Amino acid sequence: MRTDAETIKLTVADKSWTFELRSGSEGPDVIDIGSLYDKTGMFAYDPGFTSTASCESAVTFIDGDEGVLRYRGYNIDQLVKQRSYTDVCYLLLNGELPELEQSKEFESHITYHTLVHEQMSHFFRGFRRDAHPMAIMTGVVGALSAFYHDSTDITDPQQRQVASMRLIAKVPTLAAMAYKYSVGQPFVFPKNDLDYSANFLRMCFAVPSEDYASDPVLARAIDRIFMLHADHEQNASTSVVRSAGSSGANPFACIAAGIACLWGPAHGGANEAVLKMLESIETPDNIPSFIERAKKKDDIFRVMGFGHRVYKNYDPRANIMRETCHEVLDHLGIHNHPLFEIALELERRALSEEYFISKRLYPNIDFYSGITLRALGFPTNMFTVLFAVARTVGWVAQWNEMIDDPKRKIARPRQLYTGSQERHI
Ligand code: SDX
Repeated sequence: MRTDAETIKLTVADKSWTFELRSGSEGPDVIDIGSLYDKTGMFAYDPGFTSTASCESAVTFIDGDEGVLRYRGYNIDQLVKQRSYTDVCYLLLNGELPELEQSKEFESHITYHTLVHEQMSHFFRGFRRDAHPMAIMTGVVGALSAFYHDSTDITDPQQRQVASMRLIAKVPTLAAMAYKYSVGQPFVFPKNDLDYSANFLRMCFAVPSEDYASDPVLARAIDRIFMLHADHEQNASTSVVRSAGSSGANPFACIAAGIACLWGPAHGGANEAVLKMLESIETPDNIPSFIERAKKKDDIFRVMGFGHRVYKNYDPRANIMRETCHEVLDHLGIHNHPLFEIALELERRALSEEYFISKRLYPNIDFYSGITLRALGFPTNMFTVLFAVARTVGWVAQWNEMIDDPKRKIARPRQLYTGSQERHI
């Protein structure tokens, strides 16, 4: 932890400028280059933000080399083993784990926001039945701002609090509705006597023609998957939510923007892409040819579920996800699941390949989540929707932190212009 204000000097030809070095509570120090353009007339250039801190944040800490993921200082493996998803929501939003009474009150508060305005169901009928559920979610989550006008004023902390609870509570309801619509089954209303994850599973898989028995093992597995996906520092979709929020857009619109960004196969869409990849591999015998393809520059094939911008050692979530996958398959009696066998063999072979070792490519959370979700009964096109359900609380927590930042400015990067200079018609 840096104490005195140290500086770094930038020298170009006969000119030099100094910039302040700053330390956080953990992780790399930063060079504060906010005055770079004013002082030097030059921009910094970092198109993928690989070396750029976009904000200060106290929500989530990741150490890519050590495989560390902490929500408000608590390691993810401890949270997954000892707490619930709604407790993790409370932690991410409030900075502390809830005491028992606080936990019950918070979960009850969420429960009584799970219904959506009945007119929202009409939006679904405008989509084709084969619409991708993420296309539906991008639309209907944004449409929440057309219904809940009493929680769109971002200058009112009370309205932001209500919008935060509504988003965490209603996104799973809309996600279940998107699934039901895609399979042509009637929507299932939330039940207030079920916990968050059991409620979600019931809204997805119950049918009016028979009673639905919640399976506590599967509900616990989904709750654990939600905790693993809840937040992840300044990833692409969180950066989009912060950027949208910096313009003063309402919270529902900001979360819809995050959902749109998460959909990409390089980000949250990877779990769906992993399943498609495993299915295309067909048998473990084909793995070597796919690994060879992944190594070729001119081949677009990548081993989906491998690699990460931050984790260059291992993704701590992947290990827990693999355990959860095993538990779910065993509980369901799906031993020797062919896709799981292919995944295990692909992981084993890739981790011994020089290409993957040299580029520090390890399985990320998406490598095993897809198999688990398929075993739970979700179709592949719902995988990223579940990621969005889980990540809503992280987006909301980061959005609130950004709004509360007294130094908040609209996110407006500059560019290195390489186009035509002035010319005349
Ligand atoms: C998530 O940011 C987050 O925190 C995201 C996330 C979250 O919780 O929000 O963790 C969730 O998005 C996890 C990542 C899911 N995506 C995938 O599994 C898709 C496959 N992975 C790759 O697309 C890639 O690894 C990224 C996008 C995840 C990371 O890309 P980077 O950091 O920009 O790294 P890169 O693409 O520059 O790769 C470095 C090298 C390249 O080779 P060279 O150009 O140096 O020769 O590694 C190669 C890449 O070609 N490489 C791969 C690879 N991933 C990277 N080669 C084969 N297979 C892969 N999966």
